[in-house]
Amino acid sequence: RMDSNGPIGIFDSGIGGLTVAKAIKEHCPNESIIYFGDTAHFPYGDKAPYSIRHYSHTIAEYLVDRGCKAVVIACNTASALSFKILDKKWSKRGIPVFDVVQPVADHVSKSDYKKVGVIATKATVKSRIYPKSIQEHGFKNKVTSLATPLLAPMIEEGFFNNNISNTIIDAYLSKSNMANINAIILGCTHYPIIQKEVAAYYKKKGKEVDIFNSAELVAQSVKAALEKSNLDLKQPSSFDDHFYVSDLTESFQKSTSIFFGAEIKLEKMDIWRV
Ligand code: DGL
Repeated sequence: RMDSNGPIGIFDSGIGGLTVAKAIKEHCPNESIIYFGDTAHFPYGDKAPYSIRHYSHTIAEYLVDRGCKAVVIACNTASALSFKILDKKWSKRGIPVFDVVQPVADHVSKSDYKKVGVIATKATVKSRIYPKSIQEHGFKNKVTSLATPLLAPMIEEGFFNNNISNTIIDAYLSKSNMANINAIILGCTHYPIIQKEVAAYYKKKGKEVDIFNSAELVAQSVKAALEKSNLDLKQPSSFDDHFYVSDLTESFQKSTSIFFGAEIKLEKMDIWRV
């Protein structure tokens, strides 16, 4: 049987998923985590579906090998392409798999917004995961998506809250298919970092647009599901947290605190050669 003392495995294409890891640590303070950022293959958003599935599959297997009791796909692109496959494989072995799309889709589908906008990577938009999932949940109104491939690399390079990021965000959000939306989903785990700038854009235009990011909603759903299946820890875990990346550079190490809100030490882990 699954060891409820095992860590929660969390992965992303890079360090953006640390926004989700942070929220999970806040909601589940007793739990330890193993984070894996596949920086060697970042960004996933420009890759073909088979590559994204291959990476996700290998990382999930590694996390389970390390004793993780649950796997959280803290990347919208990997969630869009791999959630169904990973969920099918691991949940029947007692390891729940969580993605970052369903909790948000579920939440938004209960609203009565006339038009919902989604910004995400090319691969996420192409998969149509958001419109499909939101409408599957019973939402009748319009969902429009826009690929914003410059945003994740821009954020990882430290460009936010400045003129450059403002100009790029402005250029994307003023596209015609995003006109007259009542809510926007930040469909990439990097985007909480620019949430304030997105809010400022709509404020400047005098438009009321609600903004959603997945970190909070995902952490809530992970917590609830672990409790329900009795996999949650009542005492602090005896494992230490680990934050692995497949390619370790100074720039990744520098950016971590932006995403995690605290200093953490990245460790290099080469899972592609085993
Ligand atoms: N973190 C990824 C996501 O949530 C975006 C970055 C990438 O393209 O890999 O979609």
